[in-house]
Amino acid sequence: MANTFETVGVVGLGTMGAGIAEVFARAGIAVVGVEADPAALERGRGHLEGSTGKALARGRLTEAERDGILGRVTLTTSLGDLADCDLVVEAVPEIMDVKRSLFTELDRICKPSAVLATNTSSLPVTAIAATTSRPGRVVGMHFFNPAPVMKLVEVVRTVTTEDGLADDVAALARRLGKTPVTVGDRAGFVVNRLLLPYLNHAAVLLESGLATRDGIDTAMRLGAGFPMGPLTLLDLIGLDTSYEICEALFAESRERRHAPAPLLRELVAAGLLGRKSGRGFYGEEAPSTPSSEEKPSVSTVAVVGEETEAGGFADRLAAAGFKTAGPEEAELVVALSRTPVARRAVRLAHPDRLVGLNLVGEQVAEVASTVLTSPGAEQVAAGLVRILGRTPVVCRDRAGFVVGALLYPHLNDAVRMHESGYASVEQIDTAMRLGCGYPAGPFEMLDRLGLETVRDGLRDLYAEYRDPSLSPAPLLERLVTAGVRSIRDLPS
Ligand code: 3HC
Repeated sequence: MANTFETVGVVGLGTMGAGIAEVFARAGIAVVGVEADPAALERGRGHLEGSTGKALARGRLTEAERDGILGRVTLTTSLGDLADCDLVVEAVPEIMDVKRSLFTELDRICKPSAVLATNTSSLPVTAIAATTSRPGRVVGMHFFNPAPVMKLVEVVRTVTTEDGLADDVAALARRLGKTPVTVGDRAGFVVNRLLLPYLNHAAVLLESGLATRDGIDTAMRLGAGFPMGPLTLLDLIGLDTSYEICEALFAESRERRHAPAPLLRELVAAGLLGRKSGRGFYGEEAPSTPSSEEKPSVSTVAVVGEETEAGGFADRLAAAGFKTAGPEEAELVVALSRTPVARRAVRLAHPDRLVGLNLVGEQVAEVASTVLTSPGAEQVAAGLVRILGRTPVVCRDRAGFVVGALLYPHLNDAVRMHESGYASVEQIDTAMRLGCGYPAGPFEMLDRLGLETVRDGLRDLYAEYRDPSLSPAPLLERLVTAGVRSIRDLPS
């Protein structure tokens, strides 16, 4: 008989737990919310009232609906109040010992038919299940931050999960208005296994001085079309949580790409955890002053590089009132290029005047400074990009610049995940679109960018950084060799 879930318990009412309780209550389900002590319980109540209050203020809920949601949630500090729940979702801190002793306790308290679920982001569900006398009735039910908004739930079944239970939990997720993706028990599941290495890589590149914090975030938001920049998202997830997820991934893979960035460790050690502590990559800094919109103080510009783009770019510069000149005379030399430009610089009489320019999408231009570029030339180029209606992202002259360096390995990881047999193309695309608000899934992005472009970009990155995880996935290589345009075109 199918499991039905009419009364649900949520243990831990931090941001995630309170959000999860709200999601159940919004779907008309009675919720028992448990916190360790009265102060934590009051904070949990504050999260619930704040979130539903915001929705009320925005006209997304009526007063009666808000009252209905809050009325369906009973708050308590006693785990004993979960005795009659059909399902209990755990959302306590990501510490294995804490989770294991909680599950032992829940197993003792909850009725034998109850399902116990963990919202863990990366700890093994199987090991948590093994602490109970009912491992067959333990699953992962992984929500995404902010839980009331993000439409994905990862349902994680272990080798011991009873047949049919994951399907029933997936049906429950649908009843909550979410889309379930059911997968096996591997560190990070689909989303965190793909997302965190990308976010971690952003922290590594920030530390290496590739670009500034704002530059990296702008590049990925406006250039790649992601809803948030990676460093803003790290702050939202919490730097401690992010660090722990990377550790769990590294423990399983031993890949350098999964090793937490030293900068993350340092921020966590300093108590700078992101939004939850008020400061992380972003915080109490003075608001940045808008960059000057004045016309750059340069009158002659040379445009070199890929011909079709360079021609159009030179025309737009001329229309904006700049005189074009040859590369030897011009005060600024712009090399439109998708690859590093330092080799071009050394062929010029004034290599300090050369910057690389990579147009990304419709809104961003990456301005690459070589080791020879003068700071003045870099600033002038950035101003010129603004005049042409794009946002400049100043970066160093490295393979992939910012967007390619972060995006291509992220897409490559998705190919590797599919190749490993862990998740289908459809599951991966759905999970990343709905779990992280991506405008398109990784495989849709690969199709749009072109498999060969991404493969070549990865080869360049590998040649520069020699990190094996940056080399193109064997499947990607094979698809390009076979002339396949989309992985979806492969016979199933
Ligand atoms: N709680 C409840 N509702 C919220 C909210 C919150 N914390 N934050 C935003 N919302 C609601 C707003 O009320 C608004 O609803 P409305 O359209 O009905 O009025 C809607 O979300 C959009 O909000 P905003 O207009 O204020 O903001 P944005 O358009 O900038 O969207 C965002 C905000 C939805 C958070 C978007 O930036 C996004 O999708 N970011 C990516 C988030 C992400 O990747 N999450 C997954 C992280 S990984 C994870 O959680 C797994 C874990 O294990 C680590």
